[in-house]
Amino acid sequence: MKGAATATAHANIALIKYWGKADDRLHLPRTSSLSVTLDGLETTTTVVFGGAPQDELVLDGVPRSGEQLRRVSVFLDLIRSRSVESRPARVVSQNRVSTAAGLASSASGFAALAAAGARAAGLDLDDRALSRLARRGSGSASRSVFGGLVVWHAGSDDATSFAEPVPCGTDLSVLVITLSGAPKAISSREAMRRTVRTSPLYEAWATRSTEDLREVSAALERGDLESAGPVIEANALGMHATMLAARPAILYWMPETLGALAAVREARAAGFPAWATIDAGPNVKVVTDAAHSADLLGWMRRRLPEATVTANGMGHGVRVREGAEL
Ligand code: DP6
Repeated sequence: MKGAATATAHANIALIKYWGKADDRLHLPRTSSLSVTLDGLETTTTVVFGGAPQDELVLDGVPRSGEQLRRVSVFLDLIRSRSVESRPARVVSQNRVSTAAGLASSASGFAALAAAGARAAGLDLDDRALSRLARRGSGSASRSVFGGLVVWHAGSDDATSFAEPVPCGTDLSVLVITLSGAPKAISSREAMRRTVRTSPLYEAWATRSTEDLREVSAALERGDLESAGPVIEANALGMHATMLAARPAILYWMPETLGALAAVREARAAGFPAWATIDAGPNVKVVTDAAHSADLLGWMRRRLPEATVTANGMGHGVRVREGAEL
């Protein structure tokens, strides 16, 4: 079908966080970030231009309106403005990630939408251009264009703010401890805006983050997770500290979040390579390596029987093909 394409993208978990924008419209971040793309947690999206009288979004089988549709429509406008395509589109998207539970479904979502939308509109974009486009949908989506370990260079304008894969000398694995699938009370977009504006701790975290990124990239390149792990955990906890100091305070954690953090410390004391990271939600992710992943998964499930714990290896980048599949 002409004007139709389908793409699949995976979620990513930031090891060095993106928290705060330098430019709200272009989604230029204050700091560079580093992430690992995960297998398993994926979004598949079909875009059909001319498939509806006005832009339509069906997400996980449910027709969407309001803010969700508006975000997609604004993004499609960007694609239309750069291509010969001017028709409204029907967008059908299927997630295998828990939407808005801090599992970065917007990352896989906008990476898939960018790839499918661009292809359906006849745009021929290289990976870097696709990463820049995905960034305009959601910052973290710029990283889900690529597989494995990925850096998103903050850059200083639209052309210089893109992600690219970087070498990783160890096979990483991330356990996702889901404590709550409930939608978050405050969006990460609003939360990071408030943090930058009002948190007295923000500048200190942002400055330190640049150093953290350098240390973690170098350590992971040489396969040294033991050195990278503590910095990964500190960077995430520091990000949450900036939020706690915002006015009014932003607190994503639940009592169970602290329980999971304690479990990660115990796992380390028991000899596992295991470091925690937390995004804009209550859930905890545990960074480990593939060699310890299965044992650590069993250990965590026994330790946290109330939680859902899954293990995720490193995933590949976005894949796009012609035609409608959904
Ligand atoms: C905490 O990419 O969802 O997951 O650019 O406003 O769409 P927008 O934000 P988004 O923020 C993700 C924040 C984070 C950290 C990270 O993924 O680096």
